[in-house]
Amino acid sequence: MSDTILTPTGRLRPRRLRRGAALRELVAETRVSASQLIMPHFVLAADKGDEPVPSMPGISRYGIDNLVRAVEADLALGIKTVLLFGVPAAGTKDATGTPSRDPNGTVPRAVRALKKAMGSDLVVVTDVCLCAYTDHGHCGILANGTVDNDRSLAPITAMAVAHAEAGADLVGPSDMMDGRVAAIRDGLDAAGLGDTGIMSYAVKYASAYYGPFRDAADSSPQHGDRRSYQMDLRNGGEAEREAALDAAEGADILMVKPALAYLDVIRRVKQASTLPLAAYNVSGEYSMVKAAAANGWMDEALVVRENLHAIVRAGADIVITYHAREALQGKWL
Ligand code: PBG
Ligand code: ZN
Repeated sequence: MSDTILTPTGRLRPRRLRRGAALRELVAETRVSASQLIMPHFVLAADKGDEPVPSMPGISRYGIDNLVRAVEADLALGIKTVLLFGVPAAGTKDATGTPSRDPNGTVPRAVRALKKAMGSDLVVVTDVCLCAYTDHGHCGILANGTVDNDRSLAPITAMAVAHAEAGADLVGPSDMMDGRVAAIRDGLDAAGLGDTGIMSYAVKYASAYYGPFRDAADSSPQHGDRRSYQMDLRNGGEAEREAALDAAEGADILMVKPALAYLDVIRRVKQASTLPLAAYNVSGEYSMVKAAAANGWMDEALVVRENLHAIVRAGADIVITYHAREALQGKWL
């Protein structure tokens, strides 16, 4: 290009396409629609209940009846997919997370209630992980002071089968054990649940951004941390390897988590795989925005709009976000 073209008086004027809202809308490269959003929910082992989560303003832990009412209202707003996390009944946690695979446990009951009320209008995804159900709070079975990968696969698979039998459309393993997607796929198929899909938390980092979630789900490790199974935050190439493994093992949808501090990883995984890609805008990312907005430091609507578009611009096809309801109610997108 010659210097003439680059001078302020040249022919090329990017500002021409920014002159008015309708014109900007016409040429927008990224759009975020309700149909690509997933709203997460924490479900109590009770019919009734609405317990606000102090570290996540705007989010409650619901009893099953309250959950059904909230999801029906959200469906009217356009939120067609939910991700469920179960909170087991008090005093039932043990070393292997027994309540996680109870066919009448919190999540299977919630799935049946949602499917009874909304059927195939609603897509139900369930989080599959032992940490909210084990007394030690780790995502797998402990042996010799560490999480034993291969011994964890059977209970994780049993949990996925219990959710699928209740009618979940997709199960979402978030434990980060090696080989769990293959184990779950085989377990589902053996149980005659070949239509149930797997949304794999393929690329999940050991992140401080999960802090508020662990309050909500009561799933903090009682000792140590999750760095022997979740990914090291410094690694990007490893994300492509994890994504390739889960795809080869039979995942139907891949996920990168967290989202905002890992936009480069979202882009890499999107370019490396043709599977649908979800990104999880996690609890800490949500609560930071809420805290700043509550202090009047930032405009919540504009920041949420910017964050959700950034995640989609990076390459996510699907965004799991606690902002979903308010973003649609307020027409923030
Ligand atoms: C369970 C699980 C976690 C999240 C989703 N599934 C927490 C963790 O791994 O410690 C985090 C979600 C969020 O922060 O919003 N393994
Ligand atoms: Zn876990």
